[in-house]
Amino acid sequence: MDGVKVILDGLKGGMDGPKEFGLKNVSSQCSISEMDDFDLSKLLDKPRLNIERQRSFDERSLSELSIGLARGLDNYESAYSPGRSALDTPASSTRNSFEPHPMVADAWEALRRSLVFFRGQPVGTIAAYDHASEEVLNYDQVFVRDFVPSALAFLMNGEPDIVKNFLLKTLQLQGWEKRIDRFKLGEGAMPASFKVLHDPVRKTDTIIADFGESAIGRVAPVDSGFWWIILLRAYTKSTGDLSLAETPECQKGMRLILALCLSEGFDTFPTLLCADGCSMIDRRMGIYGYPIEIQALFFMALRSALVLLKHDTEGKEFIERIVKRLHALSYHMRSYFWLDFQQLNDVYRYKTEEYSHTAVNKFNVIPDSIPEWVFDFMPTRGGYFIGNVSPARMDFRWFALGNCVAILSSLATPEQASAIMDLFEERWEELVGEMPLKICYPAIESHEWRIVTGCDPKNTRWSYHNGGSWPVLLWMLTAACIKTGRPQIARRAIDLAESRLLKDSWPEYYDGKLGRYIGKQARKYQTWSIAGYLVAKMMLEDPSHLGMISLEEDKQMKPVIKRSSSWTC
Ligand code: GLC
Repeated sequence: MDGVKVILDGLKGGMDGPKEFGLKNVSSQCSISEMDDFDLSKLLDKPRLNIERQRSFDERSLSELSIGLARGLDNYESAYSPGRSALDTPASSTRNSFEPHPMVADAWEALRRSLVFFRGQPVGTIAAYDHASEEVLNYDQVFVRDFVPSALAFLMNGEPDIVKNFLLKTLQLQGWEKRIDRFKLGEGAMPASFKVLHDPVRKTDTIIADFGESAIGRVAPVDSGFWWIILLRAYTKSTGDLSLAETPECQKGMRLILALCLSEGFDTFPTLLCADGCSMIDRRMGIYGYPIEIQALFFMALRSALVLLKHDTEGKEFIERIVKRLHALSYHMRSYFWLDFQQLNDVYRYKTEEYSHTAVNKFNVIPDSIPEWVFDFMPTRGGYFIGNVSPARMDFRWFALGNCVAILSSLATPEQASAIMDLFEERWEELVGEMPLKICYPAIESHEWRIVTGCDPKNTRWSYHNGGSWPVLLWMLTAACIKTGRPQIARRAIDLAESRLLKDSWPEYYDGKLGRYIGKQARKYQTWSIAGYLVAKMMLEDPSHLGMISLEEDKQMKPVIKRSSSWTC
């Protein structure tokens, strides 16, 4: 690993690799429903008083307990999450009258095996614990995005300490000076991954981190900072502990991330311009420009930051910028990224070369560039946010993560959210097949694959990032199902996962049009496949968990008025 920065960070406290991390009892896990009282206009006009946010937790929890119980499961996001037992058994398997699936215990064991310790404290989980694999590559590192489902599993099981440690450790790493060759990266960039090196002789722990300078393609992970903010909200919401988010360090960390993505430049769109491979799809896959995954995470991180930022002088300035950006971003996404049968028909009939403000086809998309497959794929019932929109380019591919996060963050209007779920039902074979869930649909092949991926042998058609099926996405699908009131879809997907995952030793991904084959180069015991399954199970068992990873609709962000088609103008 050339060129990575190494710091010596203290004396080792007797930690040789992963070890058992006992379950802790958390006295109360509570939703802070007021954290989601998200009203843009109010914020712009008269900022809420900070004093209100600082009401004591006990005071809040009492009133919210009754609200949560009264609302019952109609409003999962505000419902109360009961405290967990201190028994050395996952809480999710003790609360059922029926027997838990045998896979659950196995998954917990595997998840705990993947724990990474720093000075005796658990700080994350490694990407894969695959001893059989000859090549470790960087799968022995703690990836920020990979840790998210692990963190949610621990939070849901009443073990928030590891999440807190992770948030603080990555915050420290953010403070490092980041360079690629002679170029310095923005201050706020969060690492893609980090690794703890134990020196048994000197009894020291060392951390190395990768901000893109070691990654294939040398791309910085735009998603890491967004996941960090989203996770900080999940931690705060799950534990009711506002004190972490309110520390000057966390406030500064958030502001640095926000400064990076809210900076003014030459942009004409409120979406965030990105390089290829800057997120979960971390290799060239034609997602450069304005990828849906990043836009949805950007939106969710902005909304999360809005409830976490203090209303002090520095915080207020960011709050105002966030509010403005959210307005523009939701309008742009809901108008230009949304595709359903009607919209597809409109684009198909677009006039081109329209100039000036009256243009309907604003980005001059040439209807001939619509790929054949999308006409068959588009059902009469259903819709989705397409992969990318930029001048003369609409990437019509469907991406799982972006669409699920659009639902969870309420970037999708309730109508759009249920249309996305309709699409799952209508195109089950294509999007789920035999293993949930396709990372994107469809695969690119032949000439297009050559041009778009640069002949990437790992991303051949229906493999890996190019139409492969990723079990980790199960938790996002499940969360989206619960939010839209369609748990039966999640149940169906979980059944599929249960028929294979353990037997196949928790692969990273599956290949093939139906996701039937264990991926060509898939790791086994991939941590986020394991944690994703646990999170999906726990959420379905206790839907009140959804609140930590979901934001309610903001009534102020009005749904878009349907555009007229270009031929009528
Ligand atoms: C692959 C995936 C990336 C993931 C990493 C570690 O590079 O593309 O999303 O974070 O593996 O699992």
